[in-house]
Amino acid sequence: QDVRLWGGRFADGPSEALEKLSASVHFDWRLAPYDIAGSRAHARVLHKAGLLTADELTRMTDGLDQLERDVADGSFTGTVADEDVHTALERGLLERLGPDLGGKLRAGRSRNDQVATLFRMYLRDHARILGGLLAELQEALVGLAEAHPDVAMPGRTHLQHAQPVLFAHHVLAHAQALSRDAERLRQWDARTAVSPYGSGALAGSSLGLDPEAVAADLGFEHGSSANSIDGTASRDFVAEFAFITAMTAVDISKIAEEIILWNTKEFSFVTLHDAFSTGSSIMPQKKNPDIAELARGKSGRLIGNLTGLLATLKALPLAYNRDLQEDKEPVFDSCDQLEMLLPAFTGMLATLTVHRERLAELAPAGFSLATDIAEWLVREGVPFRVAHEVAGECVRVCEREGIELDELTDEQFAAISPHLGPRVREVLTVPGALASRDGRGGTAPSAVARQLAEVREDLGAQ
Ligand code: ARG
Repeated sequence: QDVRLWGGRFADGPSEALEKLSASVHFDWRLAPYDIAGSRAHARVLHKAGLLTADELTRMTDGLDQLERDVADGSFTGTVADEDVHTALERGLLERLGPDLGGKLRAGRSRNDQVATLFRMYLRDHARILGGLLAELQEALVGLAEAHPDVAMPGRTHLQHAQPVLFAHHVLAHAQALSRDAERLRQWDARTAVSPYGSGALAGSSLGLDPEAVAADLGFEHGSSANSIDGTASRDFVAEFAFITAMTAVDISKIAEEIILWNTKEFSFVTLHDAFSTGSSIMPQKKNPDIAELARGKSGRLIGNLTGLLATLKALPLAYNRDLQEDKEPVFDSCDQLEMLLPAFTGMLATLTVHRERLAELAPAGFSLATDIAEWLVREGVPFRVAHEVAGECVRVCEREGIELDELTDEQFAAISPHLGPRVREVLTVPGALASRDGRGGTAPSAVARQLAEVREDLGAQ
């Protein structure tokens, strides 16, 4: 039996090579539940338009329910000859209802408006799943910050010691980035709540169907597409989703890179839990941060999914082109990868041990309190340009003598600058340096506590 939806004008069936090239059932099958939901909504507007009797609608709906069960338990599946999920499900319906009734459902719709609608539904569901998994990761970060409210660490720029910061402050910087990713997902979801169903192949339908009713039925809060050409041909919602997931992966990768460094013998800032690290097949002593490395690696893959997709979309003329069948695998992959990665990554962060003494010990190293000397001088009335020079000179003397800033003698301070009285030592402690940065967003314990409360509130509101 010819399952094609377009056989009428063809004398010959498709070649095997074409069938193989054309088939998408092996990846678009995951749209099946959405396709059936769309069919139910479509049957209802066909009935409203007088194109299905009440009895036909009931039998159609029963047939779709049966098909849904058979898809769910695996007793009905698509094949290569079906071409795509939409064709396969039409075959399934015809098998269950017979050609007379089964053949009525396709009126006024096209696979072009179907696929554009179902794809939105699928991605919107996964945006919510990802949002939930992201919230758990944010929770793990916030938990780390809360468990270490007063631990100082070396803050870095250029990976060089810069100024001491609170560990909680550093961790919350990552939480801020992730909360923007989560916000992007929510905003994308709202923007994508528009249904293309009813756009037909590109020009709309002559059958008096009601696209707004279908939209409401399928949970699209913002109604149906304002333009049927745009409805069937636009995929910016896919590209934007690919960007948001790639950006999220990049933000996770940045955390991963730090975990990998922190977990080295040289840093010794953290130890990973056994359940979230791996061993080596040859070196018995090894304990590797594979989760973090896979996170870093997968971010490259998600970036590739975004750029590949953009390249597919570039230069497509309106309206639907078959190129668009290439839009699904990249973002399905981005969903799959993130949904696999996030629980492992969250588990790794939630169970790692932080070595607070090691962090605290290194906080003042590398002359990271030099800025505090300069700012102390400014408070004494010295212009910053001069203060910067003087503090730099202090570092130079320390390097020459092999000592730390707080080990300079009163005489050495005085020799560097007459402004440098012994009282400068008051700012040469890590707690003093931290506490002094108490403005909004700063690293003082009071400022970080305020930030933590805000992030907590935010997470609760999501
Ligand atoms: N499987 C196609 C896709 O994923 C939808 C079918 C549209 N095909 C067509 N020949 N108009 O984009």
